[in-house]
Amino acid sequence: MNGFTVWFTGLPSSGKSTLAKVLRDEIEKKNRHVEILDGDEVRLRLSKGLGFSKKDRDENIRRISYVAKIITRCGSVALTCAISPYKSIRQEAREEIQDFIEVFVDCELEQCIKRDLKGLYKKALSGEIKNFTGISDPYEKPDNPEITVNTSSETIEQSLKKIVSGLTKLGYL
Ligand code: ADX
Repeated sequence: MNGFTVWFTGLPSSGKSTLAKVLRDEIEKKNRHVEILDGDEVRLRLSKGLGFSKKDRDENIRRISYVAKIITRCGSVALTCAISPYKSIRQEAREEIQDFIEVFVDCELEQCIKRDLKGLYKKALSGEIKNFTGISDPYEKPDNPEITVNTSSETIEQSLKKIVSGLTKLGYL
């Protein structure tokens, strides 16, 4: 069976990690091996010491895509959830991994601010944190993602269903 990478991209608190977890459960039911590469966790280990400048974010994404490529090459499934705000580096990851499905986790900024899962939007809005994506740092939406979900208007189950059906249509599931 061909391996593949599902590349989640979206604003902080848009729902990337939540969707990756429910998608992992769904794909594991089909007896596939799944690994999640989550920005928050990767930054504690593989990308330890990297910050949030464009250079550091791009380096973080390069490292994640290298690991995702290896997982994919082994015939397994990699689910990446990093903001990955820049188009050019996502394109680089796409070219490197090849079996690459970009999932744009769209969500109204107001909704992300309301959720503020880690309390960081509050700090960004007060200026305590600089260069925070969506507030004081750019997020470049994908032009042609294979799949788009909208977590401000859909339930997790609805978004999951969209992703599973997209992957099925593309021949990956
Ligand atoms: S990325 O831009 O390099 O793709 P990544 O997904 O790994 O970002 O890390 C984002 C996480 O780091 C956020 O979920 C948040 O918890 C934390 N974080 C801390 N500072 C920032 C910042 N300035 N901008 C965005 N996220 C930040």
